[in-house]
Parts: sequence; structure tokens; C-alpha cells
Amino acid sequence: MISKRTAEITSFIVMDVLERANEMERAGSHIIHLEVGEPDFDTPPCVKEAACRALEEGHTHYTHSLGMYELREAICEYYSATYRVSVAPDQVIVTSGSSPAIFLVFSALLETGDEVIISDPHYACYPNFIKFVQGVPVAVPVYEEDGFQYRPELIKAQINARTRAVFINSPSNPTGNLLSKKRMQAIADLAGAPESAYIVSDEIYHGLVYEGQEHSILEFTERAFVLNGFSKLFAMTGLRLGYVIAPRAFIRPMQKLQQNFFISANAMVQMAAIAALKKAGGDVARMKEIYNERRRFMIARLKELGFGITVEPTGAFYVFANAKHLAEDSYKLAFDILENAQVGVAPGIDFGPNGEGYLRFSYANSLENIAEGMDRLQKYLEKRA
Ligand SMILES: Cc1ncc(COP(=O)(O)O)c(C=O)c1O
Repeated sequence: MISKRTAEITSFIVMDVLERANEMERAGSHIIHLEVGEPDFDTPPCVKEAACRALEEGHTHYTHSLGMYELREAICEYYSATYRVSVAPDQVIVTSGSSPAIFLVFSALLETGDEVIISDPHYACYPNFIKFVQGVPVAVPVYEEDGFQYRPELIKAQINARTRAVFINSPSNPTGNLLSKKRMQAIADLAGAPESAYIVSDEIYHGLVYEGQEHSILEFTERAFVLNGFSKLFAMTGLRLGYVIAPRAFIRPMQKLQQNFFISANAMVQMAAIAALKKAGGDVARMKEIYNERRRFMIARLKELGFGITVEPTGAFYVFANAKHLAEDSYKLAFDILENAQVGVAPGIDFGPNGEGYLRFSYANSLENIAEGMDRLQKYLEKRA
């Protein structure tokens, strides 16, 4: 028998769209992929070189379970230079992607029945992480007219003695929007009441901000966990490296989880990550400029095609567009677009009930492909009309 906990894990629908798209490609179709949430850019050369050098130099063994000291130091320097916050290497645990970091944090924080507040819509995997360690995700709706920013008063209304964390993700997947400094401060002020409540901030899209300014939760409170990783900003998804910055009291317990379940992150990739933080600034700036050009183009085309974008997204690489005038059921709509327009898009329902009626478009694809995708959508919509 498969355990109840495992059987209850839901699939990541965007992967279902991708798998159907791949099937169609094998049968000869040409698909434009706007469903996938991963950089299309190659990993920066300095990162690849560092990885190869690390292999040659014999970095093929376990490392310290918290991660190489030099990398943890580089992460602290990065946070200090970017956000003017002080973080010490003994507050950092390096993991094989930010996904295991999410697992460590919720494992360390939650007793059975403890609650975690998440936004709706949210990154599809969050509720599964929470439920798997017997926690309860409590969804707080965020609205298109607010640019999908949390309303702190709606979070406050959900806080009770069982609340252990308020989860934020800015810039956000799937909406691409940023939390304002004011709202972030208001959310940070909620930490500590009840005493057991922390803010958990997924900062994986930091650095990919085209207008405005992202803020680390550590600028506002120390009662916080930061989740971050190298997948998005440095185009390193397949290299699998992330980290958590945590209050000191949690480090030793989470270290024991890491020692037992994962031992350590990949040694060679930790060397590559040091190069990413210290040398890849120019590559990141170039990628960011290109993302921004695509962002502007995609928003303009989607608006022309009649999709609703009330507040233009300014971060990550997503546009979360209102498609309620086309269909109530975003799952059916996404598959209909895939079958009939050969364009992959992510259905809003993948990101929570409040995402229903929306489609997520990713601009982690070339301008040429995005233009072709938009033209195909236009023809599809003209046919439907
Ligand atoms: C918001 C968010 N958090 C975490 C992750 C996981 O990233 P990784 O495990 O590659 O670091 C993703 C990946 O899409 C994401 O969008």
C-alpha cells in the first residue's frame, strides 16, 4: 500500500502540460513552450568553468553538511551587499536546490496541525510540502486589482495560536509581482504573535526585477527564514543548488535533518555557486535585460489579444493573465490552446483556487518564439470568435 501522505500529493499540472507537449512533439508537432518556469539561457561560462575545474581538482566528495564554508561566506557577503543585512555563515544551510530547503524549514517548524499561511495563487508545490509534514496550508486570497499583493489585514484575520509561519514569495510565481516595502513591513510585524510565528520568505526570483525594488525579509525582521537558490537568477536549474538562512536556534536541528536525509549538497556545484556569486554579475545583467525586453513585448501582445493584465508584472519571468472571458476552466483552456494552437501555457488552477480563470505565460523563451506563440494565439482566438 502506498502511504496516505504520499498518495495525497497532487501532480504539478504544468508538468502534465509539458509532458503532453513533449508527446505531441514526438508525433511531429512544433510547440512553443510558454508553460515552463526555467531560464532558457545557458548557464554562465564562469559557472561552468568553475564546475569543471572543481571536478578536476577532486571536489567529488561529501562536504560539510551545512555546505562549504567559503560558499556560506559568499552568500552572507551577497546578502550584505544587496540588502545591507548582516548574516553569519553559521546561519546558512546549503541544500541541493531550494526545494529541499523548503522541506527542511517546514520539517523543523511544524507539528501536526500547525498552520502556514500562503497566498492564493501560490507556487504549486507549497501546499504539498506543508501537508507532507502534517501541517495545514491556510490560503489567503490575493487579487488582480492589487497586483496580487497580499493584504496584510487578510493575513492577520487568519492568524491564531496554531499559526507557525506566514509564507511570502516576492517576486512571485505565478504572478510576477512584487510586494511593496510597506506591505512587507506590515507582514514582518506579524512575526512573533503568536510567539511561535515566523515569516518564511522564498527569495528565489530576487535579482530578476525590472521595475521597482525587491526587499529581503531580513531587512524587516530576524524572526524569518529565507529560502533562495541558484536555479533562476544564474540559470542553474539542473545543477540543483539552494540554501536557507535561518534563526540560529533552528540551524542545529535542520543540520541533523540534512545529515540524515541528504548528507550534503553536491561539492562540485558548491564550487560553481561561489563563482556564480562572485563572477557572474555581468551575465546576470545581460539575461535580465533580455528578460525585460521580452516582458514588455509579451505584456503588450497579451493585452492586444484581450487578456486582462491590471497591474503589469515587474519581476520573475511570468505574466499571469486574466482569461475569464475565454473560459471558466483554465485546465481545459490550457490543453485546448496546446492542442489547437500548439502553444504550451500553465493553467491558473495549478496555483490555487483563486488562480482559476487565469493563464500563466512564461517569458523564459526567445523573443522570436514568444512572437510566434502570440501569433498562434491570435489565430486561435480569431477561430474561436
Ligand atoms: C517560487 C519557487 N520556489 C522554489 C522553486 C524550486 O526551485 P529549485 O528547487 O530549483 O531551487 C521554484 C521553481 O520553479 C519556484 O518557482
